[in-house]
Amino acid sequence: MKPILIINFKIYKESTGNNALELAKIAEKVAKEENIEIALAVNAIDLQKIKENVEIPVYAQHVDGVELGANTGFISVEMIKAFDGTLLNHSEHKLDFEVLKQTIERCKNQEIKTIVCAATPEEAGKISELNPDFIAIEPPELIGGDISVSKAQPEIITNTLEKVQVPVITGAGIKTKEDIKIAIELGTKGVLVASGITKAKDPESILKYFAESLK
Ligand code: G3P
Repeated sequence: MKPILIINFKIYKESTGNNALELAKIAEKVAKEENIEIALAVNAIDLQKIKENVEIPVYAQHVDGVELGANTGFISVEMIKAFDGTLLNHSEHKLDFEVLKQTIERCKNQEIKTIVCAATPEEAGKISELNPDFIAIEPPELIGGDISVSKAQPEIITNTLEKVQVPVITGAGIKTKEDIKIAIELGTKGVLVASGITKAKDPESILKYFAESLK
């Protein structure tokens, strides 16, 4: 299987609303032209529109472990069934462990893929017991910066790989194709990137440049 690039759109101005759709189309174009795997993690408001307009996988950025019914303001697992899966437990949207457990179970029951973020190898080890589809290791202090975990602290990746039984994705501070190459060589199945793409002046060029490490 080819390594995957997951673009976390977060809720940057550059990756919400019409900008989200534009970025999604650029990602789809590059995925096709370069023959690489790209998936998108999109905010709840833009999900439907993007799913209708691109053919690459579209994930929710979060889902709540609640049932359909009297749950104002929540997003239930059933409501994201049309999409390709969900991120969970991102450093910017941390979940209590019991809530995470229940949410992963509900996703499994509905056959929704989960990519669960972990801040440390220890947390990744604990999450691995819940058997999500992927674990994304992202040290919070490196998120949004210019130094990747691959280069700054590769031992975080290797320690994570030792502690978990599910495929691992690397995230935080990824800005160069070398960051991606190292993450993959260390044994992770892909990368989770936000600002390197969403804040880029020319996202298409950056994606093509990243593609060199994703074939
Ligand atoms: O989920 C990906 C994210 O937290 C990493 O953000 O901006 O460091 O690529 P960034």
